[in-house]
Amino acid sequence: MASESPKWTWLNGKMLRRDDALTNVWAHGLHYGTGVFEGIRSYDTAEGPAIFRMDAHLDRLFASAAVYGIPMPYSRELLTEATHEVIRRNGWPDCYLRPICFLGTNTLGIRAECPPEVAILAVPALRHGTAEEMTRGIRTTISQWLKFDTRAIPSTAKAAGQYLNSVLAARDAAARGFDDAFLLNAQGNIAEASVSNVFFIRDGVVYTNDEKSSILLGITRDSVIQIARALGYEVRIGDIRREDLMRAEEIFLTGTATEILPVREIDGTIVGRGSRGPITERIYDTFVAAARGKDARFRHWLDFVPQLQTAHFS
Ligand SMILES: Cc1ncc(COP(=O)(O)O)c(C=O)c1O
Repeated sequence: MASESPKWTWLNGKMLRRDDALTNVWAHGLHYGTGVFEGIRSYDTAEGPAIFRMDAHLDRLFASAAVYGIPMPYSRELLTEATHEVIRRNGWPDCYLRPICFLGTNTLGIRAECPPEVAILAVPALRHGTAEEMTRGIRTTISQWLKFDTRAIPSTAKAAGQYLNSVLAARDAAARGFDDAFLLNAQGNIAEASVSNVFFIRDGVVYTNDEKSSILLGITRDSVIQIARALGYEVRIGDIRREDLMRAEEIFLTGTATEILPVREIDGTIVGRGSRGPITERIYDTFVAAARGKDARFRHWLDFVPQLQTAHFS
């Protein structure tokens, strides 16, 4: 089994031991949250490690950087090669990857021009739910914290500072004995969970919301929509009201770390049969087959990691 301690981190063009991958306490990103990042996953397949939906993650990373005016100092090609190298060097075909581009150091001024820095971190396993929760489901609550409105902070960008909202919601849920929380948006509808998008099933129809509900447009969400349609389910996209969840037959959360995680309880109300429902299970099984390179329909989602190094990183 792979070691749990991350060994190699890519930082500004260099491959470094984790403890040598350091930044400066004057970094703008540290003080003001000016960093954009991705959570990406590599899955072990019969043909070696493959990154799930790398193109979509790079699209979102560059789009997030553009929103905050953070100049990305590396090309998509170089970031892809560096990510491959992080997977190879660490020897983790199955891993969670975290590219981050943040503003470095200059002065403390909020408008300071600070040079961007880029790092790619990896951990062999980062899962939101335990193995048991993937089938049994998690216990959730409605958060006391609202999801920030997209007119205040753009919810479709994935930026470091935005995660204070998720931290508050996750901590509040844990303090009250729950595994996660749904955040309501300014309209009082369900936005998303702390680090995941929300789906529910009623009468065989799959429902989720979109950016009009102040959510991050998850790449797993998009994959699940495509999978559900390929399996023949109708997918409807619109607001999710609180009572929709209370009456749902199945509910699940989606995300790169979350994958497809069933919800079995909301504030004491049991969802459906109180464990993973049959439609959730079918979608999950297809998702896993796609990620592991076993479903030809979704093979274009995989970026296979070449076994040999294609770029030099010292
Ligand atoms: C707030 C939030 N919503 C949704 C998601 C799901 O996005 P994805 O499926 O791209 O990982 C995440 C995880 O990255 C998240 O942090």
